[in-house]
Amino acid sequence: MKKLFAILPVLFAVQLFAQSDAKMNAFVTNLMSKMTLEEKIGQLNLVTPGGAVTGSVVSKGVDENLRKGFVGGLFGITGPEKVRQAQDIAVKNSRLKIPLFFGLDVIHGHKTLFPIPLGLSCSWDMALIERSARIAATEATADGLCWAFSPMVDIARDPRWGRVSEGSGEDPYLGSEIAKAMVRGYQGKDYSSTNTLMACVKHFALYGAAEAGRDYNSVDMSKIKMYEYYLPPYKAAVDAGVGSVMSSFNDIDAVPATGNKWLLTDLLRRQWGFKGLVVSDYTSVNEMVNHSLGDLQTVSALALHAGLDMDMVGEGFLTTLKKSLKEGKVTQKQIDDACRRILEAKYKLGLFTDPYRYMDESRPAKEILTPETRKAAREIAARSFVLLKNDAQLLPLKKDASIALVGPLADSKRNMLGTWSVAGDFTKAITVIEGIKNVAPGAKITYAKGANISDDSMLIKRTNVFPPDEIEIDKRSPAEMIAEAVAAAKNADVIVAVVGEAADMTGEASSRSDIGLPESQLELLKALAKTGKPMVMVLFNGRAMTLNWESKNMNSILDVWFGGTEAGNAIADVLFGNYNPSGKLTSTFPRNVGQIPIIYNHKHTGRPFNNEEWAKFKSNYLDVSNDPLYPFGFGLSYTTFTYGDVKLSKTDLKGNETLTALVTLTNSGKVAGEEVVQMYVADVVASVTRSVKDLKGFQKILLQPGESKEVSFKITTEQLKFFNSNLKWDWESGDFIIHIGTNSSEVKSGKINWKK
Ligand code: BGC
Repeated sequence: MKKLFAILPVLFAVQLFAQSDAKMNAFVTNLMSKMTLEEKIGQLNLVTPGGAVTGSVVSKGVDENLRKGFVGGLFGITGPEKVRQAQDIAVKNSRLKIPLFFGLDVIHGHKTLFPIPLGLSCSWDMALIERSARIAATEATADGLCWAFSPMVDIARDPRWGRVSEGSGEDPYLGSEIAKAMVRGYQGKDYSSTNTLMACVKHFALYGAAEAGRDYNSVDMSKIKMYEYYLPPYKAAVDAGVGSVMSSFNDIDAVPATGNKWLLTDLLRRQWGFKGLVVSDYTSVNEMVNHSLGDLQTVSALALHAGLDMDMVGEGFLTTLKKSLKEGKVTQKQIDDACRRILEAKYKLGLFTDPYRYMDESRPAKEILTPETRKAAREIAARSFVLLKNDAQLLPLKKDASIALVGPLADSKRNMLGTWSVAGDFTKAITVIEGIKNVAPGAKITYAKGANISDDSMLIKRTNVFPPDEIEIDKRSPAEMIAEAVAAAKNADVIVAVVGEAADMTGEASSRSDIGLPESQLELLKALAKTGKPMVMVLFNGRAMTLNWESKNMNSILDVWFGGTEAGNAIADVLFGNYNPSGKLTSTFPRNVGQIPIIYNHKHTGRPFNNEEWAKFKSNYLDVSNDPLYPFGFGLSYTTFTYGDVKLSKTDLKGNETLTALVTLTNSGKVAGEEVVQMYVADVVASVTRSVKDLKGFQKILLQPGESKEVSFKITTEQLKFFNSNLKWDWESGDFIIHIGTNSSEVKSGKINWKK
């Protein structure tokens, strides 16, 4: 009886859900019964009138198509007024008055920009990440939008790929947790309210594994690797109820994702039970022509067959599906299914009840870029920074220090927001020099630019694509600029060098084969190092970089990614100790490009290596060690943490028992600080080769100086599972090692045996 009472609310919710589902079905069925074939195909058409354009094609004849009912949705316009104008055309002038939905690349914030996703992931703080998406959704909906092309959850192991900046790094477990947090933040419980929106998980799938790190390149991968390491974050987003999925540009098993039936139907819909809509990436239907799969009609039919519902920009669906239907190349049911999914999304967004519900002109002033959102951005940014080095506790700096502030990124509003900040206004961003003046007004600052971000004319041209220029070339010669910086350094107690990549040296179509600091900036650092003054390097970057010289010659290195609107204030908060850094790397920093791909969860190989010792006929290099410069999970603090030994509740387990693994964590330093305690599991014996360890849990713990806490992890057989040769997610009896520690390389360990 008790049990029955307990499940009554669940049964009630299920019934309500079924009722609302039935209502939606009836509504959509009725609407579709009135639609012509052309109008149905029109719903599958997603257009952009300009704005953020990432390909050579821009939609044409948008107005006319809107009137004819040949457009399902629009992206690239913002502002309730503008959005209302477009909605007006659809709702007042098209035959069936079907409302449009409006999307945008809301990637790491809308108008209030948070750190780039790679930076955000380094916070390892799910509540914080969810909050950033919540604020982004509030701002975007206040700006007329109801669909965000985010989260981007592509696992990436190659920092040459520019889009590593848009994702959460190399680990599938952390990536999955972040995917869920982002979906929760954007959609709330079900995205039906006016301050939540429909999320779109992308780029499905494996886009982060482009060969050689070159954008849009081919992907070729075993199924086991795909299931174990690359697919989990997409699946996590689907399980979290994401409303839409974007297919990727790359091929998978030699079939482009956009036309891949195994991917979009068998896996996504049948195995994972996804019920929402699938949209292509920007012209990815058309690009299948270049992939050598046939002409536009053929590839459009292929995409529809595969399970794609909406065609972004390319108009392959709009211009060929009618002909394909006539010729028996697609079926009416396929067109109907796609159309239904799009109408269902509109229904769930409440657009049939009120097409203007996201177009409240009074909202922007109250909800966009407010003191509160700025405050949140500042807090969130500070928590994304990673302290890579801090010799002799040079940081935090004293608030009355005499500082030579040098480097091309110290006073550059243009570069603060980072890539994919399409609605952001960089003029509203806080620079490092402004932040320092705000936080430490008593500090004596001498500023010198010191170098251009790069002096390489090819790199400058290819980076400065979106005006105004991100790499600004000074009128002075490099020697003059360096001389000015060195003179400033000589008169200061400490040098703070703000260096790194320009915002668009990462992001889409921004792959690099050399991932070090540009030569011009390295020269500056070398000249400054000669002064013998203590040096702090503040690094702006959208990827893991090779920092060999810097790691040896800088006293402190603070990695700040691209921190967003409040970057400068947040950086100053950390430099002067208002906030003690707590970020940890989510991607491995290689020693050189030749080590790539270098990841913490690599396999043992048949000839395992010992990092300290080179040996002939082992899996190692002649010219570089196997270990990274900075491992996954690494990050320092202004305090120190000590770990006790791993204590295990049992060492022999059977079946569905549960293990508790704990360590005592102590703040052994002098200031309060947060530590991300990481738990990894290694499978000693299995029927397939396994990685050396996999992240299976983490906790972020705040401790006062001298304080200790027992940090415990509950481990079930779920954390022992892997994909076997039959692609079955299962575990096998045997020995396992539980590692707990401060990063993937520094752990304490305990061994258990677990039998089925
Ligand atoms: C990108 C997507 C983006 C789309 C729309 C494409 O080039 O790959 O991530 O959502 O453009 O802007």
